[in-house]
Amino acid sequence: MANLWIKKSISSLQGEASEEHGSLKRTLGARSLVALGIGAIIGAGLFSITGGAAGNNAGPAVTISFIIAAVACGFAGLCYAEFASMIPVAGSAYTYSYATMGEFIAWIIGWDLVLEYAVGAATVSISWSRYFVKFLGYYDIHLPASMTMSPFDSATLADGTVVHGMINFPAIFIVVLMSLLLIKGTRESAAVNNFIVALKVIVVLIFIILGWGFINSENYHPYIPVNTGDFGSFGWSGIVRAAGIIFFAYIGFDAVSTAAQEAKNPKRDMPIGILVSLAICTVLYILFAHVMTGVANYTSFQGADGIAPVAVAIDHMGTAGADGVIVPAYPWLNKAIIIAILAGYSSVIMVMLMGQSRVFFSMSKDGLLPKIFSKVHPKFGTPSKSNLLFMLFVSLFAAFVPARVVGEMTSIGTLLAFVLVCVGVIVLRKKQPDLPREFKTPFVPLVPILGIVSCLAMMVALPGDTWLRLIIWLAIGFIIYFGYSIKNSKLNNPDKDKK
Ligand code: ALA
Repeated sequence: MANLWIKKSISSLQGEASEEHGSLKRTLGARSLVALGIGAIIGAGLFSITGGAAGNNAGPAVTISFIIAAVACGFAGLCYAEFASMIPVAGSAYTYSYATMGEFIAWIIGWDLVLEYAVGAATVSISWSRYFVKFLGYYDIHLPASMTMSPFDSATLADGTVVHGMINFPAIFIVVLMSLLLIKGTRESAAVNNFIVALKVIVVLIFIILGWGFINSENYHPYIPVNTGDFGSFGWSGIVRAAGIIFFAYIGFDAVSTAAQEAKNPKRDMPIGILVSLAICTVLYILFAHVMTGVANYTSFQGADGIAPVAVAIDHMGTAGADGVIVPAYPWLNKAIIIAILAGYSSVIMVMLMGQSRVFFSMSKDGLLPKIFSKVHPKFGTPSKSNLLFMLFVSLFAAFVPARVVGEMTSIGTLLAFVLVCVGVIVLRKKQPDLPREFKTPFVPLVPILGIVSCLAMMVALPGDTWLRLIIWLAIGFIIYFGYSIKNSKLNNPDKDKK
């Protein structure tokens, strides 16, 4: 009889790590890990999703939403840091839970991480597509609107006609491009990553510094717009729902933990990479949100599903002429920022696709998924077939699903993974209190419990349809687990491999 709760021992995990990844060079120091984290964190959450959350849910108080989400991520980050310093192996939350809560929970997390990484990559690619279309527009190149949106989106053209989307080609393009680079094994070199990270941070700083002078304090009144009567539509429920939505912006600090085997001194530097990148992004985000909702009224971001909000904000940085039309003070800024955003998004998409293949690689090695996911290309040395399958899967989402839907699915999936990681810290402290822990989450069980409660609160505030999608996703996962994984699990069927 298979055992749902069978666990991997920590020592076997550490052994596997040195065996499988013995050839990876340990080149990343604390600074590179922080850069890696920032590279994965700053992306569509900030430059795209913030607009919709301000316009439709929280108004200027979206800044409070950023603080709420940061606190929750801080608790989860402290828990990740303990695991990453103790079990510095790839596979991240999936692997941690295999060692602490057993196979079934590990499966749920691994399956759930598809929402974080694959669906997350789709979300960023849709935002990429928006900024790309906007950028082409500056040069009077106009792609047919129906080819740049999902069938569930529509746009109003200059002449007032409403066009419905059919397929989002630019989003497919960027997914395919990043997947092919990944298959060829173009690992972003530390130098390229550092360059893109610097570019992103500079863009955010320029936006904050230049925008600060154009803040119109009237835009902060009312700071918390009155609730419309619907849960999540302004008022305090809107702030919490917006926190759940812009939580997307913080996703990525956990990706640092997947680079554990390339870190020079993982036990010391993993916690630094996770926590410092999170802290830096938190400060930048709060200032960014404050400026964005200060230069343009939150109503300008309404229906921001179809808008690139940074461009809207920059268009408001200027002085109104006699006719009331704002003359932008920095007409060059939009183009420069959009180029940086497009480059920045590409790196986020790549990190997410890579994170996805690493998690499925580990699950496949454990027998929970077919071998195709851990088959390595003889020449490129990458799991190319797995990358191709995900290229297809992510492209379908990118092409046909609206940004809001994929963004919220990513948020709810990642929040669930964070909850389970927090639970894992408490469990392992109880079961194996004496294991050496280089970094210890402070105030256990208080901090993990606060992490669980705050992540759950954001999950609860997300719309009901997002919950339904999560439940359907998990149900599909259960069918695969009981139909395939449990019968092929190496831990549950130790003799199977020997045949
Ligand atoms: N945090 C990443 C982003 O906002 C996923 O794009």
